[in-house]
Amino acid sequence: MSKKAIGIDIGGTGIKGAVVDVKSGRLLSERFRYQTPVGGTPKAIANTLKELISNLPNPQGLPVGICFPAVVINGVTMSAANVSHDWIGLDADRLFEKELKTTVHVLNDADAAGLAEAKYGAAAKQKGLVVVTTLGTGIGTALIYNGKLIPNSELGHLQIDGFDYESQAAYSAKERENLTWAQWAKRLQKYYSTLEALLTPDLFIVGGGVSKEHEQFLPLLKLKTPIVPAENRNSAGIMGAAYWAKKHTTD
Ligand code: BGC
Repeated sequence: MSKKAIGIDIGGTGIKGAVVDVKSGRLLSERFRYQTPVGGTPKAIANTLKELISNLPNPQGLPVGICFPAVVINGVTMSAANVSHDWIGLDADRLFEKELKTTVHVLNDADAAGLAEAKYGAAAKQKGLVVVTTLGTGIGTALIYNGKLIPNSELGHLQIDGFDYESQAAYSAKERENLTWAQWAKRLQKYYSTLEALLTPDLFIVGGGVSKEHEQFLPLLKLKTPIVPAENRNSAGIMGAAYWAKKHTTD
């Protein structure tokens, strides 16, 4: 049985992909990156995926996992953050299977990052409840219980102080408002304390590009729950998506 799958991470600005060894999570090819087409329509994105996959070594027949910034139920994208609204209610699994002529499984981007941590990273041996958060343009969340994903948690949209709190505590808010690390950490404190009060997790994992600077803000947080940076950063979505595709494909 082949242990390879293609993982693709679709974001508002970039689309990245590689071939992954799903046993170890190791990338078996170069990681290719394309700009997300302006407008982010399904057809334009499908064309970009075709081009990306044509660069990969021996892609024929490999299952493709795709992560996407949306609630995804049985391959149907139910929302669309930073991409065209044509995705809402679209059977993305079917669309991509038709275009790419192989098995495709789509999942939420934060869920893919969470799976990468659960299978190959900071939550690999963790029992109980792990809450993985990605701090980027928005806040993505993944709930992992005893290694199993509870999909589509969408806790970046918690209402705190009358705000959809990703608008206050995502990394994009720090950049937009020119917040210092300490100012941003105050908002993160509020966010993680709320999650802690609601869920009593065993571990928080913080991902997203900014997690490479975790020394600047994680030590400022006072929580009962241990909080650690993600181990898989740029490739977490790719690894988790490939794992998801393989898990849902019988060969
Ligand atoms: C979306 C989530 C996504 C997160 C990170 C949020 O705005 O609602 O589906 O996981 O951004 O991209």
